[in-house]
Amino acid sequence: MAKSSNHFIAFLMIFYYWICGILLFFVPKSLRFKSVKDKLVLITGGGSGLGRALAIRFAKRGANVIVWDINKSGLDETVELVRAANPEVKVGSYVCDITDRHLVYETAAKVKRDVSAIDILVNNAGVVSGKNLMDIPDEKIIQTFQVNAISHFWTVKAVLPDMMAANSGHIVSIASVAGSTGGCQLTDYCASKFAAVGFEESLRYELINANKLGVKSTVVLPYFINTGMFAGFKSPILPALEPDYVADQIMAGVLTDAEYVAVPRICYTLNTLKTILPVKAFYKVYEVLGGYHVMEDFVGREGTQHNNNYVNNNNNRKVK
Ligand SMILES: NC(=O)c1ccc[n+]([C@@H]2O[C@H](COP(=O)([O-])OP(=O)(O)OC[C@H]3O[C@@H](n4cnc5c(N)ncnc54)[C@H](O)[C@@H]3O)[C@@H](O)[C@H]2O)c1
Repeated sequence: MAKSSNHFIAFLMIFYYWICGILLFFVPKSLRFKSVKDKLVLITGGGSGLGRALAIRFAKRGANVIVWDINKSGLDETVELVRAANPEVKVGSYVCDITDRHLVYETAAKVKRDVSAIDILVNNAGVVSGKNLMDIPDEKIIQTFQVNAISHFWTVKAVLPDMMAANSGHIVSIASVAGSTGGCQLTDYCASKFAAVGFEESLRYELINANKLGVKSTVVLPYFINTGMFAGFKSPILPALEPDYVADQIMAGVLTDAEYVAVPRICYTLNTLKTILPVKAFYKVYEVLGGYHVMEDFVGREGTQHNNNYVNNNNNRKVK
């Protein structure tokens, strides 16, 4: 009897959240933004692209910002831009290869000593090989998984104890639309992004189960963005997005504690389409979107002047 009444309450709650979701859609997000003033935000891969755009936006909202990357000159540029965006906030950069878990734990401890515990972690660093499976060197496949997915285990383990103790904090995972559907020349990338989505979803259930509802999490699924990471990508139907637009959408999601942020919104329908369409019909959708050819001319950062990926581990900077 008690069990069936629990199920009835669960059913009512599902209905309640569903109605709330529909009603909230009509309330401007900006009216629901939480404050991040004086919070400490750690952004991995903050030396370029989306990570940099997010660092600037968090600073403009009064958050103190720490950026990690393997690209020292990229980090320096981000620090200058964050300072220019808001001279009032603290900003610091640390060269940290997030594939090295010992370095991640060490650098996170250093940040805590230098500044404070992290309030918001943005797992943003990412790499892509852009080749068909048989052309990807084994080492590159391992690196893709290490950067895009496995590093999330190390960064989250480094900051979660403080967040759980305070029952407060936010973990943001920049995955990709490639975490919802596969794609040609993207076996390692898509598989690593599916892993990042699975990690974040599982972590969320664990936090709910531990009654740590104050620790929020957001997984972000953007379509292609003009940052240079996917240089050479062709987009016949959906144009590639501008980093500023994507960063604004991510901020709106984080500031409203959204669990999922798909950019553009049409990408929310991908999982639904995969569920309701016969598999072969979905292949046709993929074909119509140009999926078989979008990566044919891919050169990525390695084929352009945007090549930021060099390692320098001796230049950690303290926060000013
Ligand atoms: N650009 C796109 O089209 C696109 C689309 C969807 C999702 N994303 C995701 O958004 C995130 C940001 O991508 P971006 O477009 O800004 O690319 P980007 O290349 O500009 O930024 C990625 C950053 O990660 C850093 N990085 C790489 N390996 C690292 C390591 N081992 N340790 C620390 N830092 C490392 C790089 O130096 C670089 O600064 C990535 O996770 C990417 O997969 C990008």
